[in-house]
Amino acid sequence: MKNYTLIRFLTAASFVAQLTAAESPRERLSLDANWKFHLGDDWPDALHLENSGTGSGPASEKFSDTFWRELNVPHDWAVELPFDWAADGSHGFHTLGVKYPTTSVAWYRRTFDLPKEDEGRRIWLTFDGVFRDATVWVNGWCVRHHEGGYYPFREDITDVLHYGGKNTIAVRVDATKVEGWFYEGAGIYRHVWLDKTSPIAIAQDGIFVQSKFAKNLPQGAPEIQVEVRLLNSQINAAIATVNCEIISPDGRPLAKFAAAEKLNRKSEGTANLAIKIPSPSLWSPENPKLYKLVTTISSDGKIVDQKETTFGIRTVAFDANQGFLLNGKHYELYGTCNHQDHAGVGAAIPDALQEFRVKKLKEFGCNAIRTSHNPPTPELLDVCDRLGMLIMDESRLMGSDSENMKKWDDQIRRDRNHPSVAIWCVANEQFMVQDTPQAGNVAATMQDYVKQLDPTRPVTYASPEDDVFRGINSVIEVRGWNYHYGPQMDRYHAAHPDQPNVGTEQASVVGTRGIYTNDREHGYVAAYDLVWPGWTTTAESWWSYFAERPWLSGAFVWTGFDYRGEPTPYWWPCVNSHFGILDTCGFPKDAFYYYQSWWTTNTVLHLAPHWNWPGREEKEILVQAFSNCKEVELFLNGESLGKQTMKPNSKLSWQVKYAPGTLSAKGYDDAGKVIAETKVETTGDAAQIQLTPDRKTINADGADVSVFTVSAVDAQGRVVPVAQNKIHFAIEGAGNIIGVGNGDPSCHEPDVYVPTAPSHNVPVNKWRWEIGKISKNRSAIPEYANDFDDSAWKPVSGGGPTIETPDTAAIYRAHVTLTDEDLQGEGAMICFSGCDDEGWYFVNGQFVGESHDWQAQPIFDAKKFLHAGDNIIAVGVYNGVAQGGLNPNVNVQIVGHATAAPWSRSLFNGLAQIIVQSTKAAGEIKLKATADGLAPAAAVVQVQPCASCPAVP
Ligand code: GAL
Repeated sequence: MKNYTLIRFLTAASFVAQLTAAESPRERLSLDANWKFHLGDDWPDALHLENSGTGSGPASEKFSDTFWRELNVPHDWAVELPFDWAADGSHGFHTLGVKYPTTSVAWYRRTFDLPKEDEGRRIWLTFDGVFRDATVWVNGWCVRHHEGGYYPFREDITDVLHYGGKNTIAVRVDATKVEGWFYEGAGIYRHVWLDKTSPIAIAQDGIFVQSKFAKNLPQGAPEIQVEVRLLNSQINAAIATVNCEIISPDGRPLAKFAAAEKLNRKSEGTANLAIKIPSPSLWSPENPKLYKLVTTISSDGKIVDQKETTFGIRTVAFDANQGFLLNGKHYELYGTCNHQDHAGVGAAIPDALQEFRVKKLKEFGCNAIRTSHNPPTPELLDVCDRLGMLIMDESRLMGSDSENMKKWDDQIRRDRNHPSVAIWCVANEQFMVQDTPQAGNVAATMQDYVKQLDPTRPVTYASPEDDVFRGINSVIEVRGWNYHYGPQMDRYHAAHPDQPNVGTEQASVVGTRGIYTNDREHGYVAAYDLVWPGWTTTAESWWSYFAERPWLSGAFVWTGFDYRGEPTPYWWPCVNSHFGILDTCGFPKDAFYYYQSWWTTNTVLHLAPHWNWPGREEKEILVQAFSNCKEVELFLNGESLGKQTMKPNSKLSWQVKYAPGTLSAKGYDDAGKVIAETKVETTGDAAQIQLTPDRKTINADGADVSVFTVSAVDAQGRVVPVAQNKIHFAIEGAGNIIGVGNGDPSCHEPDVYVPTAPSHNVPVNKWRWEIGKISKNRSAIPEYANDFDDSAWKPVSGGGPTIETPDTAAIYRAHVTLTDEDLQGEGAMICFSGCDDEGWYFVNGQFVGESHDWQAQPIFDAKKFLHAGDNIIAVGVYNGVAQGGLNPNVNVQIVGHATAAPWSRSLFNGLAQIIVQSTKAAGEIKLKATADGLAPAAAVVQVQPCASCPAVP
């Protein structure tokens, strides 16, 4: 038991019931909806931070974003960009990076009203993940510059908010720099939150719950140890009472315990509490039982905070001889490494799609995910806790400097309550330094730090070396193995018998779904478990080796899903990897059935390839059977082609002379009884589209999704495995399409169709000016009127300040000529590039707006004041200090009507995917699919009312 520093007491009266969201002094509001977005680095001066609180361009509160695109985050603009062979292939050939400055920077803006009553509360702004460099302004105050695309960041913005008024968040995102060698996305691709708390509150990620069994074996009653970090932002000291209540997986209150902590003025404090829970339900992937801790904080007789924390009770350990131990028993890790990328949406994966992906992995027996090579999205961990999936939680980079350690600290504190997280990984493949004493020191520092923050889990490093015991490998608790399986592992184990081992990365077999010949021209690879890059091996080969050595703990296959970038072994036109057991949509490749055979207890029998080979009659075709039956017999059109015995962890092959018809197989058990049958048939031509949603009812929360499989079937309803028809989609009702895909690694069709508005600039010219008197308000003077004669005024000839002396005003006049067509679009924005110091703006004698900040670049929607032909712009400028005037380069930006091309996608080998998201309206979504020469299809998804996550309006 810890040496607790606080007063422990336990009185029935001190306990409080769970509060409803409305009663809780803490509010966690989603800030995902209703952002404005602009692609392009059109305001580079905004980063010129000369003064406080006066952001310029979009960073200014005054900026008009009326015609920017509206969207919700999570959002990834990289998927919206075209492909270019000259772009970075490792990131998927999208037009992003140093060569593409105009599409590598974007702006997001969001305005919201804050009630007056929020004054006195602490208000926090949290970004769960932005790729990559983010600069954030709130009401013109630059509150954060954050580098690194995988870590959350959070700011206390209490001081700069307008209470009882409108507030503006502006975020400039620069995705020019990359971090990995794989697709990483661009933009605000994870959730955004506004948290409101009392001045005394639980710190962010301030609760840690750990269950401690004696000797780390699940016997007897574990002690549930709770650590609560508290913040006191008041100027007075305070006593905080911490009340904890544990709720069982079936919703029963189990235990209450409490403590008190003295908090000094403007400081932090930590309360430690503990209680025993007899006969707990243990968490495991097969039985993911979740407990809840309700932590309530009171001070001065009032409840000041309440928070729920989900946790699981279980033990994890890695043992040098027994491998991975879950709840005290050997548990083989059937793992996959995965990047955060899905067809249609890229890195901006909706929570429901995380669930879809985890379920797909579980189908073939995967019980563990390595979040390669970065910290995960928190909602992925929630899904893994709930559905039962272990996690290797990986850092992006190694480093023991303050910045990297802060990131490591944030990652551990955020993720350590998740029962799914089984092990931390300090980094992947640090080739150049991994053997050095310095890298060993850094890894040891990171590992030691884990012991301080989370003594319950071990640490590994994904090492690409064979039996090398130097640098990182010599200090790391669990030796990770990327590839290099074989006798070197046995040698290493013999030489270091006390160091546990885990296969951090294995396989890297390449294969394209539904493809059975290598095709360099199209960038396709046969999916027979026969092609692998030099550093890797087949599924059968690595797994057979691991399966016989439980001390290796199992391993993580590279990868569960295909992902954009890293096209291997062929480069352009291929834009995706082929390593996945599933393609980018989650459609299974044949390897799926290999792993399902040996990683599950299901009876599996699967044949590859398909049987549509016109023109290949009488030619030999390689047929493979993936099965865990004792024997498999193959038949062509009813005739036996022989029975073969399946060695454990293997697959079977036949060479078969092609004849159209039915290729079938029977699987037998030990007693010779048929326990499985399967067939592939030569189909007719595609005749009809089919649309199949994965979920027929989704929630009206504006975030939930249904994932439709699109296929083409022949006249007998059989999926045509070679169909490549172009399918067109239309949607009606309470939903939107958010992405399409087909798993084709060389497809260059768009994954998203976003509305774009044409726009062009018309220059404002013939400028003249004169020192003159102006009123510092909107009142009209003759010089602003169209009929004023300015012919005697001085022409303005290019840059430089025009007003030389302080406390002086001047008037500027100019002309812009527009056509009828210009004024038929959405808007006509008059865009100034700066006004030093204050300005009053008139179009054709009518007041359109004012500016009071020399750094601002005022923009006004002036469409209603403009007409076809000659228009007169007049500006009164007051220069307060030094020199000033109106900057040159003034334009009228004509914005046309936003339109998007209709959604479509070609089938790839019979399949495509379309992802549909709910709005906040309940009702029905109807998706229709049409294609030339095929009968159309329609499918309906019900959208049910639900309790939405509380959100900023
Ligand atoms: C590994 C690397 C992975 C991926 C893989 C491809 O060495 O850790 O990120 O690149 O190779 O086989």
